[in-house]
Amino acid sequence: MSERVSLRVNGRTVQVDAAADTPLLHVLRESLGLVGARFGCGEGACGACRVLVDGRSQTACDLPLWAVEGREITTVEGLDPALAEAFEAEQAAQCGYCSAGMLIGAAALLRETPRPDAGQVIAALDDHLCRCGAHPRIVRAVLRAAGATG
Ligand code: FES
Ligand code: FES
Repeated sequence: MSERVSLRVNGRTVQVDAAADTPLLHVLRESLGLVGARFGCGEGACGACRVLVDGRSQTACDLPLWAVEGREITTVEGLDPALAEAFEAEQAAQCGYCSAGMLIGAAALLRETPRPDAGQVIAALDDHLCRCGAHPRIVRAVLRAAGATG
């Protein structure tokens, strides 16, 4: 049954009409036009759909609306562009399918650990799949964004 749900997304309050158990990813993409987060596995295993919820990285494909009502959601569209610029500088996106999730994972890491070392970046992005094998470039991009290189 559809109901009016109030969400905080990228600093704005938005209202959506959806069933309370609708996955957040579906609402972001289909109702709010925020298509940066991608649908990959649909079961919380690939990381393509990740968003920040109250600053922590969470998969949005398996996160029901009722669980995020009133919480602060940040999608890749709401991130500081400096992070995406570092990805571009390191050519860290090949097909780009994993990139939004990687950027979210990186943002969550840098929030907690502003100057991570390579091992901390690798560990933070460990559960993000990249079928293109771009992980080394992605790690370099996160270190660049942190000001640790370049
Ligand atoms: S689509 Fe959500 S984790 Fe894969
Ligand atoms: S760049 Fe293609 S899946 Fe990561």
